[in-house]
Amino acid sequence: MARLKTAVLLSGRGSNLQALIDAALEQEFPAKIVRVISNVPGASGLDRAEKVGIPTTTIDHREFDGREPFEATLQTELQNSGVELICLAGFMRLLTKSFVDRWHDRIINIHPSLLPSYKGLHTHERVLSDGVRFTGCTVHFLRAEMDTGPIIVQAAVPVHPGDDADALAARVLTAEHRCFPLALRLVAGGKTRVIGNRVEIENAGAPDVVSLNPDDGKA
Ligand code: GAR
Repeated sequence: MARLKTAVLLSGRGSNLQALIDAALEQEFPAKIVRVISNVPGASGLDRAEKVGIPTTTIDHREFDGREPFEATLQTELQNSGVELICLAGFMRLLTKSFVDRWHDRIINIHPSLLPSYKGLHTHERVLSDGVRFTGCTVHFLRAEMDTGPIIVQAAVPVHPGDDADALAARVLTAEHRCFPLALRLVAGGKTRVIGNRVEIENAGAPDVVSLNPDDGKA
């Protein structure tokens, strides 16, 4: 089986990269991570890749005069590695429309909220201050506008009484680590079809439960 050559772009810790690495250890997994690229020198995600022998590259955006030259270098690196799909796993740079269009339906991004709610930064703080009872995470195909694009997988995560942003982030992160490998498996396995702003998934099931928060004790 030919596995889809995938690059993971990140800026930091790389716990989502780790979830993808772990999933891709499975022989039947349809994607192979061929390169990990960081825009931040010394990002700890790079160590995770190096530990398992995945080649890494650092492209420090601060060394470039604007987004276009940064992305030109990125594009060359991706091409040289034969990359077919890009996963953004905590990659904290906005990409230009021309880059995103060039990789149309070939970039997937993870975001720590139930999009289209809470785009942008500080999602957990805003969720808490709004008092919503569920948040979550989203994996989606990337479009040029920040944190938009057809949704592949979402997980709903309850907000607990007494949560602070760190506690909520940790609960959401656990869900991210399930969603991103699932989304990559579906996309790389050819199970997704983008129709307008929706993603159709071959043979997809969906949970048959409704969650209440606060719980009414009848679950
Ligand atoms: C994750 O929570 C991811 O959803 C978020 O950054 C974190 C990276 O963690 N991404 C964004 O906010 C992008 N808009 P990680 O480095 O441990 O995977």
